[in-house]
Amino acid sequence: MDIYEALKERRSVRKYTSDPVPDYKLNRLLEAGRLAPSWANKQCWSFIVIKDPEKKEKLASAMPKDNPARKAVGEVAPVVIVLCADPEASGKQDGKDYYLLDSGLAMQQLMLAANSEGLGTCWVAWFDEDTVRQALSVPSGYRVVALTPVGVPEKQPSPRPRKDLSEITYAEEWGRPFNG
Ligand SMILES: Cc1cc2nc3c(=O)[nH]c(=O)nc-3n(C[C@H](O)[C@H](O)[C@H](O)COP(=O)(O)O)c2cc1C
Repeated sequence: MDIYEALKERRSVRKYTSDPVPDYKLNRLLEAGRLAPSWANKQCWSFIVIKDPEKKEKLASAMPKDNPARKAVGEVAPVVIVLCADPEASGKQDGKDYYLLDSGLAMQQLMLAANSEGLGTCWVAWFDEDTVRQALSVPSGYRVVALTPVGVPEKQPSPRPRKDLSEITYAEEWGRPFNG
């Protein structure tokens, strides 16, 4: 799949079929994450692959009832991947913690690869971190940054709106329109 096609087609998927996800596909997704760039190439991320229904339930219990991805994580998706990062293993400059950027890039690469494999994902960051940490025995120095369900989408959700390029792009300096 062409990169632009993958970017256009990726959606946050919250409804999945019961089809399993083969391990060879999971490996390809994780490999896509592994290849991400990072601060000083520190690769501060770790992934936890969850298939155990009890563990998935525990993850869902860490999510507020209003979280629209709760059911997908707890009951529907065959796999959930949890993204952890070690802030000490990444960089910090001018108050900017790069572990969030590093691990986010890895996760996004994983998600785009999932799309190319015909699989759906959904960023989930609205959860109680300590509940997830305890459920998965994540060491105290690590942050649990996000997680995603992984599975075959029941249907392709419609695209969510995005700001127009003119609202977010400037030429040469802040505020000068870019007319590319
Ligand atoms: C950092 C981050 C955290 C998110 N957390 C959640 C979440 O907890 N639950 C959820 O249902 N969606 C979550 N989302 C998904 C967004 O709602 C979604 O990406 C956005 O509405 C755009 O839709 P799209 O991904 O289909 O283009 C999150 C997205 C990001 C990038």
